[in-house]
Amino acid sequence: MQTSKEYIAVHRERFIEELIELLKIPSVSADSAFSQDVLDTAEAVRQALLESGCDTAELLETQGYPIVYGEKLISPELPTVLVYGHYDVQPPDPMDLWNSPPFEPVIKTTGLHPDGAIFARGACDDKGQMYMHLKAVEFMTRTDQLPCNVKFMIEGEEEVGSKNLAAFVAENQEKLANDIILISDTGMIANDVPSITTGLRGLSYVEVEVTGPNRDLHSGLYGGAVANPINILTKMIASLHDENNHIAIPGFYDKVTELSQEERAEMAKAPFDLGEYQRALDIDSVYGEKSYTTNERNSIRPTLDVNGIWGGYTGEGAKTVIASKAYAKISMRLVPHQDWREITQLFKEHFEKIAPRGVRIKVIPHHGGQGYVTPTDHIGYQAASRAYQTTFGKKPVPQRSGGSIPIVSLFEKELQSKTILMGFGLDSDAIHSPNEHFGIWNYLKGIETIPYFYRYFTELSQ
Ligand code: BES
Ligand code: MN
Ligand code: MN
Repeated sequence: MQTSKEYIAVHRERFIEELIELLKIPSVSADSAFSQDVLDTAEAVRQALLESGCDTAELLETQGYPIVYGEKLISPELPTVLVYGHYDVQPPDPMDLWNSPPFEPVIKTTGLHPDGAIFARGACDDKGQMYMHLKAVEFMTRTDQLPCNVKFMIEGEEEVGSKNLAAFVAENQEKLANDIILISDTGMIANDVPSITTGLRGLSYVEVEVTGPNRDLHSGLYGGAVANPINILTKMIASLHDENNHIAIPGFYDKVTELSQEERAEMAKAPFDLGEYQRALDIDSVYGEKSYTTNERNSIRPTLDVNGIWGGYTGEGAKTVIASKAYAKISMRLVPHQDWREITQLFKEHFEKIAPRGVRIKVIPHHGGQGYVTPTDHIGYQAASRAYQTTFGKKPVPQRSGGSIPIVSLFEKELQSKTILMGFGLDSDAIHSPNEHFGIWNYLKGIETIPYFYRYFTELSQ
């Protein structure tokens, strides 16, 4: 019987070519100027599902962009894998920092990707990783090795908070019924250190607006006599962390699950080189919450970060002005058991409370989601672990990630199934940044590994 590796050796160039074509369509969900491109991408994915062996593939309407749904059901007696991914991408800005245009994919080698990497927006997050699943299913169907049923649900609003997905999942429970959910939308430690993501952080994203005087004022005539919204906003933001970099919002940590010393010791075994980490980012020191390591700070601990801040004059030269308003966008990454709606409320109450007289405050919640942890004693995790052992020749390291995929906890609530996060990207692949890329080795390794997951999961289910 042909192995996935042998099949890839024959179809390698076509697999790369097909992904490149998909990456050329600028499916930026955040910007309505790209709405036709987002729709075209959905249709391209639908076609690709049919070509990859699905019996049916359709676009299911939502209030926003459609969900591409496809399936190949071979027997009700066999388990069903539901693959989730997203066909939308982040905006490419800032454009001038790209070495080649974001929607004209090119292959270049890098230190970490000696076999070449495809540079394009969405290469890793998530078109490339999503497409691995289509090609894995193509291999299994064309070589008569699909061991179970498979369903695909590929959405187009992940990068803008999946606002319409909760209703969709609740209304389509039967259609989406499955035994395990499989997602490749995370990363792994290194090409020679395979890892499986066992946790995601939750998220609360808010915007704040501070209003002072009813109009912009001359900073000489009024300066010193009225509250300057930008001064106030920055002071309020600075007060949200204490001297140990703990978040100073009352109640913020109440539901945080502290890991035991054993769990922390287990985590510390994952290979990590602090010097290399600092060098890669050009920083002379890391920074964060006291008494936690870098890997703990960015995975098992909650955070609060300003993502954007603006107000006043930012054009060329100088303008002496006190702005009427100042704004900031803030993300809070949450850990299991923190409830994102509760945290949003705590933030709002606290932020309103600490505002001095002389300004008015508005807190506008955007989106959010709950964190997630995959139990490593679940057969889904075990099947994935064996799959990596087969293709990497090493046992993968379980690793909690700091990123968020809010739909995962929703799947558990609505569909009662666990999610396995088999990511093949590297943290250095620059997702959401200029020059995003995805290693060709990683792309092909994913296609090679995924079919083993299906095989082992089906075996372990019996
Ligand atoms: N694929 C990422 C999430 C991710 C990346 C998790 C790497 C773990 C490792 C996803 O597309 C994403 O960007 N999620 C957003 C949240 C969303 C609600 C906009 C995030 O994490 O910022
Ligand atoms: Mn993603
Ligand atoms: Mn993303």
